[in-house]
Amino acid sequence: MKIACIGAGYVGGPTMAMVALKCPEIEVVVVDINEERIKAWNSDKLPIYEPGLFEVVKECRGRNLFFSTDTKKHVGEADIVFVSVNTPTKTHGIGAGKAADLTYWEGAARLIASVSTSSKIVVEKSTVPVKTAEAIGKVLKRNCQDPNVQFEILSNPEFLAEGTAMEDLRHPDRVLVGGADTESGRKAIETLVSVYAHWIPRERILTANLWSAELAKLTANAFLAQRISSINAISALCEATGADVQQVAHAIGTDSRIGSKFLNASVGFGGSCFQKDILNLCYVCESVGLKEVAEYWYQVVSMNDFQKQRFVERVISAMFNTVSQKKIAIYGFAFKKDTGDTRETPAIDVCKGLIRDGAKVCVYDPEVTPEQIFRDLSAPKFEWDRPNYSRSHSHMLENVQVVSDSAAAAEGAHAICILTEWDEFKSYNYQALYDKMTKPAFIFDGRNILDHAKLREIGFIVYALGKPLDPFLVKGY
Ligand code: NAI
Repeated sequence: MKIACIGAGYVGGPTMAMVALKCPEIEVVVVDINEERIKAWNSDKLPIYEPGLFEVVKECRGRNLFFSTDTKKHVGEADIVFVSVNTPTKTHGIGAGKAADLTYWEGAARLIASVSTSSKIVVEKSTVPVKTAEAIGKVLKRNCQDPNVQFEILSNPEFLAEGTAMEDLRHPDRVLVGGADTESGRKAIETLVSVYAHWIPRERILTANLWSAELAKLTANAFLAQRISSINAISALCEATGADVQQVAHAIGTDSRIGSKFLNASVGFGGSCFQKDILNLCYVCESVGLKEVAEYWYQVVSMNDFQKQRFVERVISAMFNTVSQKKIAIYGFAFKKDTGDTRETPAIDVCKGLIRDGAKVCVYDPEVTPEQIFRDLSAPKFEWDRPNYSRSHSHMLENVQVVSDSAAAAEGAHAICILTEWDEFKSYNYQALYDKMTKPAFIFDGRNILDHAKLREIGFIVYALGKPLDPFLVKGY
């Protein structure tokens, strides 16, 4: 059996590496139009950072795992084609700012149709709107010259989380395979299930109809993001009342109906999926006339925007209502720890908000390159996922410095903002950092990972998200 995967990104790369590792008899080829990405996958510096990924790639690459730009050859030869291309939010035209842009998906489908001389199972790995399989089916059927070629479309959404992708792929809570309820559909489902069954217990491999599988992915992300927005909403109320959001989260999390995971208040959720998928869900709801349902889910995104804005306002008001010309150290730019991914990271909105008020931000992140940070801070909203996006000139960047040393970021700074929960931030010598900073020195902990009592002892004015406010801050707010 030969598997091809179109799209060598955060999903395509790790998932196919795991398939290759667990199914040594299957040849797996990941193809992409982005030459640089493929080059990086074939090098010692992979294009994405994910704990444990390099080891797996190293073991399989050249054995039964290959990365190539020769899309035609490998897709043409494959029995199963995974499509794992980006499905960003549309930036113009009907549905701009909400609907999923399926340009890349359709491009992939046309490619599959044009090179196919044998029947194939086409697997939707990308997150797509409900009913995409129907549209893709038409594109495949109408564009394939060979009347003997049959396509069977399956929906197999990916539930991995960046930062823990390899562990999630090795031991997934479940794998979901949706397909048509026809003889050929059921056969295709069984073929894909048998691939996963190499390492995943059968009872964890769920099957469903196509539309349920497509909708389950959007729903999963909507529910996950909703939990974050819910606890973040409560964090604002905690600050206003003297309650402590961690105590509240612990108290509710022990209720088995609620559960304790995903209840950390923070400066806001980020990542390439949550916002995009909720907007997409809202758009699907509106398209079928369910305005109230769309509005309900849209609040999850609004609350996230509010949380980021609230953080910026907290910083500015605490620092005597002006950050003009003040150096502010930003610790962490990635949207969460253990990834270099910055797509929709709250750090973008926080930095932009501070810069708009005149601040000079100095960013340190252990995994994100300066080029990426400059690019993010100059890109228009929703434009991050377009591979061909070229960096526009932005005045924002005059007030941005990126350093590779966290202590240098704090040198002369008025404040440190913790925006990503990187473990290394917990073990810094904050006394030494305090000594280098302009006084009064502030710390705004947007992830609640530091020892706040100790910081106060050192002399910092501390803002801990969703926690009783430092008396200095109450007065200053
Ligand atoms: P990505 O942007 O990292 O990778 C997509 C890749 O597809 C890019 O390298 C791009 O060059 C390539 N591509 C686009 N059109 C192509 C074509 N016609 N032929 C060949 N290559 C093409 O995106 P990522 O993060 O891997 O996401 C892919 C999909 O998976 C999205 O729909 C996303 O919503 C979904 N997803 C993402 C998760 C994540 O954590 N990043 C988790 C679960 C699902």
